[in-house]
Amino acid sequence: MKDQTFTIKSNERVADGIYRMTLNGDASQIVRGGQFVDITVPGKFLRRPLAAMDWSGDSLTVVYKTVGKGTAQMSELKAGAELNVLLPLGNGFDASKCREKALVVSGGLGASPVYGLVKDLLARGREVKLIMGFNSAGDAVLVEDYKKLGVDVTVVTMDGSIGMKGLVTDAIRELQPQHDFFYTCGPKVMMKAVCDMLPGPGQASLEERMGCGCGICYGCTCHTKKGPRRVCADGPVFDKEDIIW
Ligand SMILES: Cc1cc2nc3c(=O)[nH]c(=O)nc-3n(C[C@H](O)[C@H](O)[C@H](O)COP(=O)(O)OP(=O)(O)OC[C@H]3O[C@@H](n4cnc5c(N)ncnc54)[C@H](O)[C@@H]3O)c2cc1C
Ligand code: FES
Repeated sequence: MKDQTFTIKSNERVADGIYRMTLNGDASQIVRGGQFVDITVPGKFLRRPLAAMDWSGDSLTVVYKTVGKGTAQMSELKAGAELNVLLPLGNGFDASKCREKALVVSGGLGASPVYGLVKDLLARGREVKLIMGFNSAGDAVLVEDYKKLGVDVTVVTMDGSIGMKGLVTDAIRELQPQHDFFYTCGPKVMMKAVCDMLPGPGQASLEERMGCGCGICYGCTCHTKKGPRRVCADGPVFDKEDIIW
């Protein structure tokens, strides 16, 4: 884990209240989708944890929603500004658990942490079915990015403004996608519903408020069937059978 300075290359609004920021800096230590970085927003004491959506040796992309003061401030930063970033953090999704066919289910901004996972699965020659759930067309992000990867994508919206109308669970029920392992990221209630309805093995990425972000303060502890675990250091990705919802 390293603390380093990244320079903003671009910071663009991509949907209602949602921004995509690409930064230049050494991201070579990120190895799995679902890992995250902790960004210092100038003037704010606690860092802001954001999933690494995409990365290469010298580039990192995060996709974030403006929910409070820190992310609002981030959305005003321009290309050329510098940010201190702690990375890589967390375990990330384990693509090796899928033998042949993966089902990936995202909800809202859960579409961002699974992007690296989907690339990893495709690189391993796995077949990927992606179901992306959003409230409406206005907050649908990354759909085109996934289509460019050549993934079989089904979009579901609560109001039916794009894709199927309904919940991701409705799409799973209707499509019955074949898979030997599933991965999910999104609102807790959605991930629980997905884990409850799919009988096979899977992984879900949990979210907790964080202090240090790197395993020291125990501020992000959650209870699992294996005992207490730190979401930042032992997770954020956990096997379905270990999670206590
Ligand atoms: C592992 C992980 C990955 C995440 N990845 C993403 C992502 O890719 N895109 C995205 O938009 N959001 C992501 N989040 C949520 C994101 O961290 C919060 O939305 C963000 O920290 C809010 O900051 P704020 O200053 O705008 O809000 P404020 O409410 O002003 O923040 C006050 C404090 O609470 C913390 N906080 C507030 N909401 C959350 C939250 N939901 N989770 C954790 N800490 C929170 C902030 O970090 C800050 O320390 C992730 C959270 C975790 C734990
Ligand atoms: S946030 Fe400090 S241990 Fe997880």
